[in-house]
Parts: sequence; C-alpha cells; structure tokens
Amino acid sequence: MSGFSRRRLLASGGALGALGALSMAAPPAAWTWPPSGSVVGTGAGLDPRWVWDEVADPLVASLSERGDVPRVNELLREWTKNGQELPKGLPSELRTFIEDARQLPEWADREKLDLAYEFNEKRGLYLGVLYGMASGMMSTVIPKEARAVYHSYGGANMKDRITKTAKLGYDIGTANAYADDGEMIVTCVKTRLTHAGVRHLLPQSPHWDSAAPEDIPISQADLMVTWHSLATTVNRKMVEWEVPIPREESEAYLHSWQMCAHMLGIQDEYIPASWDEANAQADQVLTPILAPTPEGVNLADILMDFGKEIDGTILSRPVIGALTRFMLGDEIAEWLMIPEEPVWDPLLNTFWGPFVAFREGVLDTFPGTDKAYWMFDEVLRQAVLLFLSEGDYPISIEIPTTNRPQ
Ligand code: HEM
Repeated sequence: MSGFSRRRLLASGGALGALGALSMAAPPAAWTWPPSGSVVGTGAGLDPRWVWDEVADPLVASLSERGDVPRVNELLREWTKNGQELPKGLPSELRTFIEDARQLPEWADREKLDLAYEFNEKRGLYLGVLYGMASGMMSTVIPKEARAVYHSYGGANMKDRITKTAKLGYDIGTANAYADDGEMIVTCVKTRLTHAGVRHLLPQSPHWDSAAPEDIPISQADLMVTWHSLATTVNRKMVEWEVPIPREESEAYLHSWQMCAHMLGIQDEYIPASWDEANAQADQVLTPILAPTPEGVNLADILMDFGKEIDGTILSRPVIGALTRFMLGDEIAEWLMIPEEPVWDPLLNTFWGPFVAFREGVLDTFPGTDKAYWMFDEVLRQAVLLFLSEGDYPISIEIPTTNRPQ
C-alpha cells in the first residue's frame, strides 16, 4: 500500500463506491445468542436488530419536534453528578424518564464495582492504548457505526466527539463511577438521550439514508456490537498479551461494563453474564460484520492524526498506524489504507509481548534495547493522555439538534 495516494483514493468516487458495495456484501446471520447467557438469565429472545429504545426514542423525538432540545441541553449541563438533584425547569416527562433511567439495576454489585476501580488503577496504562487504538480504530470498520458517526452532527468535528467519548472511558474507571458523587451514570443517561436524538435525526439525512441499509440507526444489536468493540476487545487483548489478571478483577471489570450497558438503555437480556458469553456473542455479532466503508476510512484518517493534539508526542501518524495494524491485524489495516511501517511493525511484533511480560514481572529482563523500552513506555503514557483524560474543561454530552452540516 506504500506509495499509494490515500487522498487520491478518497477523492475517487469509483473506489469509494467499491468500498461501499464491499461493506454491504455480508449480511449478518440471524441472532441466536440466548437470553440464558445474559446477566438476568432470561428474556423474550427478540432479535435485537429490530429493537431500539422504546422509552427514550419517543420522548426525545417529541422534545425535538417541539424545539425543546436546546433548552433541555442547557439545563442538563448543570447535571453532572449521579446523585445530584435534577435541574429545575426540565419537561416533566424528561424528569420522570431520567429519575427512572438513573436507578441502578438490582444486579448491581457494589463490591465488584470497587474491585473494578482497583483493576482500572492497576491496568490504566494498557486501557488508554487499547481504548484508543483497538476500540477506537475498530469503530471505523463497524459499518453502521461509521456511517452513523460520519453523517451525524459530531462527524464533522471528530476532536469534540472523541473528547466526549473519552469522558465515558475516563468516568468508568473512577473510584465512584456509579456512586452518588460519581459521573458515569450521568454520562450514560445523557448518551442514551443522545442516541435517541440520533435515531430521530439521521433518518432525515438524505446522505445517511442513501448510504445505510437500515431505516433506524443504533439498534440494540448495534449497541452490543460497539460494546464488544470496547469491553470484549480490550479483555481479549489483555488475555492475548498474557497480562496476569486475577479472575475476580477480570469479572469486576466486566461488571463495570455490564452496568454501563444497562445505563445506556441496553436491555438486560442482551448483556452477557460472563466473558465466555461475551466472546460467544462477539463471535456472532462483531467479528463477521467488520468491513470498510468510505465513511470509516475517512474517520480513521482523521483519528490517525489525533496524536498531533499533544506536543512532541510519540503518537505520530505512522506510530498510530503501526499500533492499529499490530492490534487489529493486516486485513483491517489494509481496509483503512494504513501503510506498512518498516521500523515499527517488526518492533511491535517482536518486542511488545516481552515488554508487557517484563512490566508485569513475568520476565526478568527486557530483551530489546533501552530505546525500544522507552518508546513503548511513552506510547502507553501518551495514549492515556490522549484517549483517557478527564479533560480540562467541563464536558457535557448533548442531544444533537441537526445532522452533519454539509
Ligand atoms: C454519541 C458512547 C454505541 C452512534 C455517543 C457519545 C458517547 C457514546 C459517549 C457522546 C459523544 C458525543 O456526543 O459526541 C457509545 C457507547 C456505545 C455506543 C459506549 C455502545 C456501548 C453507538 C452505536 C452507534 C453510535 C452502536 C451507531 C450505530 C453515535 C453517534 C453519536 C454518539 C452518531 C453522536 C451524535 C452526534 O454527534 O450528533 N456515543 N455509543 N453509538 N453515538 Fe454512541
């Protein structure tokens, strides 16, 4: 792929058309993952491709139709802590919705959530690079997500979008994520409202409509696909890298993501009870649907330049490309038109495993050079800054009022 002009390809309608056709080539198989594998062990077993959010969707559609969304967004900026009283002046049906949506499920386990925090503290360095380069780049080869993101309002300002999404990654790892003084419930409930807004608005976009095979975006199945690109993918990578994680910590980390799924409005019957169940579901819903789209290629192109946000960072475009190829494989790298990197590709393939093993005390010595060790360490450190930072100004996730400005 080296020497190949990405811009020329992006500018060429023919190539984009071919990519678009490719992304529609493999329709997903029917849903067979059973509710018995879920956190509640039971459910109606409906195919989640045809289930959306029956409470939030009509509510946000009606706020939107009445022109209430800007005022609601402004009021909700004041709501930042999980247990905080809701701002005065919210429409009563929205207040009722939020009061209900912010309740933890019966299966919430406080001890597990505390342990999940310990896990995040211990493994935070890996989480930055994984959320950024494994999950973030993977999102660009999830066709429905890539199209939805590209054609929605946030698609035109990826920096803002990633900052808001990074808030979720940051919040879930805090000590009090789901406690009254934490912020994760607020982030999830606001995101649930945002998704409902997207479901209302995107079908009105002629651009999304002509590119997407579905009539309504962000089904429950789509939500689980993205959930796997986050939780399941991160867990799989840590297992692959042989990071020694006690079983209880691994289960606690899963629990924090199960809670996130619930608070985002995903029905309990679709939320896997264990990593085994999650892997089984991901094999069915995530792996087979990964494909390139013109929108995803464009979003990946923007993400690759994201390291520029930090002065003097090691996360240059070539390094982000090499990390993406290392984590997601050659095929996805080719889809995203990421060139091969003669220095970084072999370096990662040879020394990343020993680097992790040495950091974890499994190996006594690191077999590479000091320089290689330093570079890997910098990658971890900078990735946290880039993809997992709290942000130095208040970030408020808001319900969109328009699609991508053309
Ligand atoms: C917005 C997280 C699934 C499409 C957001 C935001 C967060 C988020 C934190 C707020 C950021 C912002 O407003 O820019 C998640 C999580 C998911 C998930 C944790 C699953 C576990 C999906 C899926 C799709 C999707 C499956 C599409 C198929 C969007 C779009 C926006 C958005 C289009 C932004 C709307 C706009 O900017 O106008 N999501 N999301 N999300 N999400 Fe998701």
